[in-house]
Amino acid sequence: MATDPTPSRRQFLKTAAAASVGAATFGAAPRVVGARTPALQKAAGPVVISSRNGTNAVQKAWDMIQTGADALDAVVAGVNLVEEDPNDTSVGYGGLPNANGVVQLDSACMHGPTGRAGGVGCIEGIKYPSKVAKLVLERTDHVLLVGQGAQDFAVMHGFPVENLLTERARLAWVQWRENLSTRDEYLPPHDANTSDIGADYEPQQRTWGTIHCSAIDLAGNISSVTTTSGLAYKIPGRVGDSPIIGAGLYCDNEVGAAGSTGRGEANLENLASFLIVERIRMGDSPEQACLYACERIADHTRKAYLLNDKGEPDFNVQFYALNKAGEVGGAEIRGGRGKFAAINSDGPFLVDLAYLYKNER
Ligand code: GLY
Repeated sequence: MATDPTPSRRQFLKTAAAASVGAATFGAAPRVVGARTPALQKAAGPVVISSRNGTNAVQKAWDMIQTGADALDAVVAGVNLVEEDPNDTSVGYGGLPNANGVVQLDSACMHGPTGRAGGVGCIEGIKYPSKVAKLVLERTDHVLLVGQGAQDFAVMHGFPVENLLTERARLAWVQWRENLSTRDEYLPPHDANTSDIGADYEPQQRTWGTIHCSAIDLAGNISSVTTTSGLAYKIPGRVGDSPIIGAGLYCDNEVGAAGSTGRGEANLENLASFLIVERIRMGDSPEQACLYACERIADHTRKAYLLNDKGEPDFNVQFYALNKAGEVGGAEIRGGRGKFAAINSDGPFLVDLAYLYKNER
């Protein structure tokens, strides 16, 4: 349960904001800053963390780590469960498609012991983009493959090209398209006496979703992966933060790891996962570092259409992090009820996300 901020945390954020943006302060409305209790942070040893949709993923990764698996193999196997799950409409198979009804996926991974990274952007027809990202890491001298090239590379390594658009996702896309405007030719179900056909835009708000997973294995090595179908109904070709090293994830074997979900554009403009790991290197706890990244994004958000009437960011980004000692923490820009999944030698648990602004919705 998020708690009121302590004076020291407020002081920390004040200092952090000043250090990050100097005299310029944007989005100046007071921030709520909720934080979880430090008592939930765990001591040294193997640990796996994931966004809230990864409770099965952390268990799978944990089980593999207990048998001696490398953290990278474990986290990729963990998120594969979500990639193949048709009921998660933000990741892999069953993910919501782009504006043309095509599922385009992004993923990246990073291996702490070797410092290597791999990713795929805008890949179509491949159910497990995180496995392909891992192959980019292992079997190429590149870091990022996109589009047709990424699919060709996957096929070269034996992946089948499959239809990833489930009936549920197709129907959601059709509903979105038919309700975008009252002035186009796509009409939702209606009767002939209705005016303003297709005015039902608000319920069709787009979502970001995504899963991030990081782990420390028995050898003390750290690895990370992030995988997503990205922003629902995005412009075809759009790539989010998930496959970008430093944005959707970052990992340093001597320091810790971080990853993100939520509005990727905000993260791309701030490379927040890299920032979080650097803040951990400087002495922040994982939660403090994630809050610092939220603060940085809030202070850099200047587009009026992204701000609410209080001048606060009107979107969300979540961050998840761990340090070399096995401590975990996370934060989001707008919150109050958000949690993430974790597992250590005490078993699985959920951790409250700290937040900058209380989510009123
Ligand atoms: N964070 C996922 C995306 O924006 O695509």
